[in-house]
Amino acid sequence: MFMRGPHDPIRIERAEGAWLYTSDGHKILDAGAGAVVINIGQGRKEIAEVAARAIGKLDYVVPVWTTEERERLVERLTRWTPAGLSRFFFTSGGSEAVEAALKFSILYHKVRGKESKNKIIGRKPSYHGNSLAALSVGGSSRRADYESVLIDWPKIDTCYCYRCPWGKTYPECDIDCAQALEKEILNQGADTIAAFIAEPMMGSSGGVYPPVKEYWPMLREICDRYDVLLIADEVMTGFGRTGRRFAVDHWDVTPDILIGGKGLTGGYMPMGMIAVKETMVEEVERGKADFMFYTYSSHPVACAVADEVLAIMEHERLVERAAEVGARLGATLKEELSGHPMVGDIRGTGMFWGVELVHDKLTRVPFAPEKKVTNRVLGAAVRRGLFFYPASGMAGKAGGDAMMITPPFTIGDAEIEYIIRNARGALDEIYPSL
Ligand SMILES: Cc1ncc(COP(=O)(O)O)c(C=O)c1O
Repeated sequence: MFMRGPHDPIRIERAEGAWLYTSDGHKILDAGAGAVVINIGQGRKEIAEVAARAIGKLDYVVPVWTTEERERLVERLTRWTPAGLSRFFFTSGGSEAVEAALKFSILYHKVRGKESKNKIIGRKPSYHGNSLAALSVGGSSRRADYESVLIDWPKIDTCYCYRCPWGKTYPECDIDCAQALEKEILNQGADTIAAFIAEPMMGSSGGVYPPVKEYWPMLREICDRYDVLLIADEVMTGFGRTGRRFAVDHWDVTPDILIGGKGLTGGYMPMGMIAVKETMVEEVERGKADFMFYTYSSHPVACAVADEVLAIMEHERLVERAAEVGARLGATLKEELSGHPMVGDIRGTGMFWGVELVHDKLTRVPFAPEKKVTNRVLGAAVRRGLFFYPASGMAGKAGGDAMMITPPFTIGDAEIEYIIRNARGALDEIYPSL
């Protein structure tokens, strides 16, 4: 995706709340919150002021020193993350944070004399970012052109029931979903596995999928049994998106490493982070191992902005709002769209909803990938003034189609009605041509 300057197709001039304004006078409701980023809505003056003040004071300090902005953010984050996850390492985005989590896992075992524990188990489908190690640990079609250089790490099938990889239905399948991890650890040899990484609720590679409630507690138990670190990639689901502060809070599971990005700054600054168990960081520090920073780790301006974004979330109770308004959004989506002949499934929680598009509603057969159904529906939606985040459906390897309806937490009933009306309009427009 290289920029082409003046030839780029849509030119956004400004934004406010959930609305984008184009330079040719149109407005678009951003029901994807960009790439599932803009949790608190756009155009907040107080954040612009905080950023201006921070830049006016100092622009850069090496990451090994501290500043007021860094300290304030760490203090606030300690109240957000699950208990015990109180050491933070900051990055410029999600992929860098995933890299940091993978490297820290390997380093942690090495410091404890377990150097052979150096493989990371991921899932398919999944997406953990675009850099080479993040692509390696993920299981998405975005790997395709780089397979020859990716690290050969093991993958297990993802827990989902819409098209169960084991051909079963819930609740019969949930045991198999988690046990697939145990089987793979034993198959590889536990002394070779550093960590297991997963999105607590699948995002773009599965068109939103909350797992069965037994799944993550079982993953936690299995990881503990084999001294394998459990990494929750909450780049998309974190900071209130699913109606709880973090998706793992739905099941009271504490991962060893939690990865954040996107909602951490709500799109006002590029930033990612890992939150790690205090005891693990202490062990690495005692071993005198050096965990190298990135040049822009904990950039003071990004820290100041993240702190203000989270302060706004707290004052306006936006996590609670994501749960309440999100429940209405989900119920209305189901009510109004589930009867559509293209809609196979609607699932989600909080402000995190996926609409799976299928060729055959009864048999759940997906559309052929070359039909590019999601892109066509998205084109029709944008022409009507609606953006949603395009995603793969649960068809796994074959691709599949899904719309992610993941708006800013600040939307109200009028915007919900607008989303539904225009999503249905876009589906109705494309359906006859399929
Ligand atoms: C679950 C997950 N992890 C990691 C990433 C990578 O984040 P970034 O694009 O900020 O590098 C993404 C991006 O969509 C994501 O959804």
